[in-house]
Amino acid sequence: MARLIDGKQLSAQVLVEVATEVQQLKAEHGITPALAVVLVGDDPASQVYVRNKVLRAEEAGIRSIEHRLEADTDQQTLNAVVDQLNKDPEVHGILVQLPLPKQLDEAQIIAAINPAKDVDGFHPLSVGALASGQPSLVPCTPLGCMIMLQQIHNDLSGKHAVVIGRSNIVGKPMAALLLQANCTVTTVHSHTQNIEALCRQADIVVAAVGRPELVKADWIKTGATVIDVGINAVEVDGRRKLVGDVDFASVEPVAEAITPVPGGVGPMTIACLMKNTLTAARAQLA
Ligand code: GUN
Repeated sequence: MARLIDGKQLSAQVLVEVATEVQQLKAEHGITPALAVVLVGDDPASQVYVRNKVLRAEEAGIRSIEHRLEADTDQQTLNAVVDQLNKDPEVHGILVQLPLPKQLDEAQIIAAINPAKDVDGFHPLSVGALASGQPSLVPCTPLGCMIMLQQIHNDLSGKHAVVIGRSNIVGKPMAALLLQANCTVTTVHSHTQNIEALCRQADIVVAAVGRPELVKADWIKTGATVIDVGINAVEVDGRRKLVGDVDFASVEPVAEAITPVPGGVGPMTIACLMKNTLTAARAQLA
């Protein structure tokens, strides 16, 4: 039986640490870290994410500010909201919930966020800093995955890590963080030949492709650590259910450690957003 890496428990621990440091920041500098979340439109999944972010912020003693804009908002209006938040000294972190409605240019709005407040770590300056080995604000999901991996491995040095997926939000920054931790990193994706054979060589597999239960037991080396970033809604016997990118039932007996879905990476992402908001608020003290 694999060791279960419990994201609910670990994220609660991270939140307690953040809350303690938030209180210190308040006591020593009179500053309450504040996170602004901008949500455009009424995508139901995004609404759930944003609600969870606001709840966790409260738990950590972080002030949260919500900006809800209509689905037909234009670029200029969104830019004006971001610009106002950029300039507000009482706002330390800015998150524009993705995906944005089709008429809006995501890359442009990400680049418009003040990099000091870029708690998502998506700004080109944050991406460049991570790629050149000087991480500042690091994307929350990969950061959460690294904290999970550190529960299992004291030293990641020399481990072969295979990252499945190459998104800007997870796959690419995940590979950069693993490289920074001295792993040998292979990124595989939809054009990769022999994905299974490459995965079978891995000490660590991080699956982030959004394909339900893609990763099977025969992709996994005995004793590997498996991190499942996928959250896919599927119907089983007429009932909606969340599954990861990993076929948990078959992989679990083969792996040394594995994250469940739900209750794995998901809660870690939000805890890391609070961690980043604290980091950003501290860095803005000067
Ligand atoms: N949508 C899905 N994941 C994320 C995330 O990490 N940040 C933002 N801003 N939007 C998302």
